[in-house]
Amino acid sequence: MAKPILVANWKNFPASLPEAKDLLTNLKKKAELYKKLRLIITPPLPYLGLVAEKAGKMVELGAQNLFPQEKGSHTGEVGVDILKSFGVKVVIVGHSERRALGETAVDVALKAQVAIKSGLSPLICFGEKSRDTDGEHFQFLQEELKTLLSGINKKDLGKVMLAYEPIWAIGKQSAGPIDPLDLSQTILFVKKVLTDLFGRESAEKVAILYGGSVDESNAGLLLRNSGVRGLLVGRASLNAKSFEGVAHSMLAK
Ligand code: PGA
Repeated sequence: MAKPILVANWKNFPASLPEAKDLLTNLKKKAELYKKLRLIITPPLPYLGLVAEKAGKMVELGAQNLFPQEKGSHTGEVGVDILKSFGVKVVIVGHSERRALGETAVDVALKAQVAIKSGLSPLICFGEKSRDTDGEHFQFLQEELKTLLSGINKKDLGKVMLAYEPIWAIGKQSAGPIDPLDLSQTILFVKKVLTDLFGRESAEKVAILYGGSVDESNAGLLLRNSGVRGLLVGRASLNAKSFEGVAHSMLAK
């Protein structure tokens, strides 16, 4: 069995280098625990070197975005060559906080294609803004997935990770995490969409994760029986104790 995937999306935290060092020192103390998972940390770019050096083999290095042009002068942007030179293997694309700045599904699809072309795994985020009892969000999710995956070749699906992140469930001001039953229903739907697009065998290669208000009290419930292969964690990844709780909860039988 593949290890459950745990992604720590640090966003633009911790607020200083010493705090980032502290967090890593504390995570490192639980290396034996984290080795049971496929742990991916996506720190702010200036901390990439630090995470690579301090966390070593316990962690797979990720980035929170990429600039989708491979070469050229682009002030303020960071492209795949630099990311790869730090040892980055995974890149989040299309997080809702970036989409709020104007990124469209078409932009995200391009970033996913560039990631694959350069040997990185794209972790493609998608999710509805709100839900209603009529289930209209399913239509939205279907259209969104079609666009996001439009340029991706069947043979590359083993590299693709999808993070279902309902926007209403993300962050401090949110309604809290999705109900586990609603999660399994949605993941089943996502798998059906993938199967329609790529055929069953290829569709099964895509690792689907869930993100949105995951913490130590709900991680196990959200992971088990929902059809996801892992979790993407924001706030709870910034506190070593909470993050350890998330890992324990994911591994509990
Ligand atoms: P949260 O963030 O865990 O703080 O809700 C998740 C995310 O934005 O990826």
